[in-house]
Amino acid sequence: MDLIEYLRVEKTYNSGSTEVVALAEVSFTVHEGEFVTVVGRSGCGKTTLLKLTAGLLTPTAGTIRVAGAQVRAPLTNVGIVFQSPVLLAWRKTIDNVLLQIEARRLNVKTHRQRAMELLELAGLKGFEEKYPHELSGGMQQRVSISRALIHNPPLLLMDEPFGALDAITRDEMNLELVRIWSEAKKTVLFITHSIPEAVFLGDRVIVMTPRPGKISEIVEIDLPRPRTSAVRDDARFISYVKHIRESLGVR
Ligand SMILES: Nc1ncnc2c1ncn2[C@@H]1O[C@H](COP(=O)(O)OP(=O)(O)O)[C@@H](O)[C@H]1O
Ligand SMILES: [Mg+2]
Repeated sequence: MDLIEYLRVEKTYNSGSTEVVALAEVSFTVHEGEFVTVVGRSGCGKTTLLKLTAGLLTPTAGTIRVAGAQVRAPLTNVGIVFQSPVLLAWRKTIDNVLLQIEARRLNVKTHRQRAMELLELAGLKGFEEKYPHELSGGMQQRVSISRALIHNPPLLLMDEPFGALDAITRDEMNLELVRIWSEAKKTVLFITHSIPEAVFLGDRVIVMTPRPGKISEIVEIDLPRPRTSAVRDDARFISYVKHIRESLGVR
């Protein structure tokens, strides 16, 4: 089943007298349970695409449907992870995760156990009572992923969530995310400017052209799951990365 459908989606920003066409003619679908990655250069409209999907922006033309319904207002049944973890400094790990529950006026007591389970799933057992400054960057980002999952959304939207991390932590976070995704059975739309990351994570990679962002290619990634570090040495992995690099015109 198609969970997200993009039909000739366009987004033009008006800032003063100048118009910026951020996205043009974007059409593709994301199937339920699929892990789709979007890769493109900075400024090609990736964040715009994510915000349109979440209903935080309205398309200038075209339609986006999520679970069959046109997106017209901010979606509530979705988990969003941004580039920086945006945790509240004065709240403990567990309370940062439960923030999402408070904001939705749900019962905090009954969700506490679920929050503990998610933190364990994210490898943060024992850190529930720590404050953000007591956690590493990678750990903070895992808290924000747990927070995005606490209300059990079927769809996760992630905008370069590991962009600020060092390469080693980033590789580890990719492994963690694949594990969480396969255990939690979500649909993921994951945005990145890293080609290896897009290939490592994705069932399909949507390759975008520079501004105005259009889809230049959709690449099916035929690599075994579960994906482990060994996948990065696989000849097919290397050739997908090379192919997409050429597609993006990276010299
Ligand atoms: N609120 C805005 N007003 C005007 N232009 C914007 C706005 N947001 C983004 N843009 C422009 O739209 C283009 C795409 O931006 P964005 O979606 O953030 O790209 P990416 O996430 O791929 O780096 C860029 O040229 C950017 O400058
Ligand atoms: Mg962006």
